[in-house]
Amino acid sequence: MIKVMFVCLGNICRSPMAEFLLKDMVEKSGMQRDFEIASSGTSSEEYGNPVHPGTKKLLAEKGISVAGKYATQLKREDYIKYDFFLAMEQRNVTSALRIFGGDSENKVVRLLDFTSNPRDIADPWYTGDFQRTYEDIMEGLQCFVEIVSENR
Ligand code: 4NP
Repeated sequence: MIKVMFVCLGNICRSPMAEFLLKDMVEKSGMQRDFEIASSGTSSEEYGNPVHPGTKKLLAEKGISVAGKYATQLKREDYIKYDFFLAMEQRNVTSALRIFGGDSENKVVRLLDFTSNPRDIADPWYTGDFQRTYEDIMEGLQCFVEIVSENR
C-alpha cells in the first residue's frame, strides 16, 4: 500500500485536483487497492470549504466527481500515516516541514521533482488557468506512478 497526501496552500484548487486525478488514474488501471490518496492545505484559510469551481469544472469535464471533498489542513500527526507528501510548490514544502517539525524520513517532495524538469505546479489562483495546472499535475502523476510502480 502506497499512502499519498497531496499538499498545497488552501486545499481547494491544486491538491484536490491531484488527489482526484490520481484516484481516477489508479482506478482505471485497477490499482486502487494499492493506494491510499488524500490531500490537504498548509493553511487554515479555506478550511471546510468545497473544491474551487475551476478545479471542480475541469474534473467534471473528465467525468470525475469531487462530491464530499472539503478543505482540510495538514497536521503533525499525518506524518506517520503517509509515505509521500507531494507538494505543489516549494513554499508548501517549507510549510509542511514547519508543521511536521522536520522530515526525518524524506517524505516531503514537490510532485514535479519526480519529472525530468523539477519545478512548481502552475498556480491557478491568480491566473484562472486551471488547464495549465492540470497539464503540470498529469506530468507529475505519470512520473510518480511509474517510479513507485518500478520500486515495488
Ligand atoms: P490552492 O489555491 O492552494 O491550490 O488550494 C489557493 C487557495 C487559496 C489561496 C491561494 C491559493 N488564498 O490565497 O487564499
